[in-house]
Amino acid sequence: MGEEMRAACVIGWPVKHSRSPMIHGYWLKKYGIAGEYRREAVTPEDLSGFVAGLAERGYVGANVTLPHKEAVLRLSVPDARAKAVGAANTLWFEQGALHSTNTDVEGFLGNLDVAAPGWDSGLTTAVVLGAGGSARAILYGLLERGAGRVVLINRTLAKAAALASAFGPRVEASEWSAMPEALGSARLLVNTTSLGMTGQPPLDIDLGTLPRDAAVADIVYAPLVTPLLAQARVRGLPTADGLGMLLHQAVRGFSLWFGITPEVTPDLRALVEADL
Ligand code: ATR
Repeated sequence: MGEEMRAACVIGWPVKHSRSPMIHGYWLKKYGIAGEYRREAVTPEDLSGFVAGLAERGYVGANVTLPHKEAVLRLSVPDARAKAVGAANTLWFEQGALHSTNTDVEGFLGNLDVAAPGWDSGLTTAVVLGAGGSARAILYGLLERGAGRVVLINRTLAKAAALASAFGPRVEASEWSAMPEALGSARLLVNTTSLGMTGQPPLDIDLGTLPRDAAVADIVYAPLVTPLLAQARVRGLPTADGLGMLLHQAVRGFSLWFGITPEVTPDLRALVEADL
């Protein structure tokens, strides 16, 4: 019908491991869109040239993965989220200019909205474990949703303190040993560390002091049900898993490039889960 073919890609080095082609490929097929989503292996040396030539290569936008998420900020017009997180994972063109954002923020929020509806109403205290790149995106999202106070707990206290000062007075850095007390008043607990991931040490934590109306989220998605989420479920708490966050973070890019806001369905979850 003369419909213009649109293409997007994921830029990384290496890029083989990326699950984005599977997710976007599923949606392209599901919505019957004349589009393509490819992998582009681009070295750090070639990144600026590749990004400068994105439109000439026929791309309407791209995902960006390791190790390029920070470097790409300088090659695009970052939005407030990308600036605050210090990294971007999604690129798109608007009136000829290349823009960037960080969709981990809405991946985290969108996943919790579905998994634990109402989690953000009266969110007086949230506890976040870890102070790396993922924690930045999650802190930004929690403050955006009106969290009164976020207790940021990290093995290396200095990293938590640096993040807390970057995000302002609602974020407090705390020692790992302060966990039981912090959990006592928390409506939400989020693990952003790699603890509990297959091959990593377990996250040794007792949810005994966590209120009965709290929700628990984990960014780890291998295994799908981490020991943290399993413990929360035994206590009857709503949980949001890392796979949900991964799928929800892909929604915005697809809608920017292909013009349809796609749905995260059980079918899509099952497809990606089978590949974990
Ligand atoms: P990401 O981009 O996914 O956030 P990252 O920036 O490497 O990854 O951050 C990993 C986080 O997991 C950090 O907060 C790290 O704690 P440190 O700042 O002390 O390094 C945390 N982490 C990793 N391994 C850990 C372990 N064995 N015990 C406690 N925390 C750990």
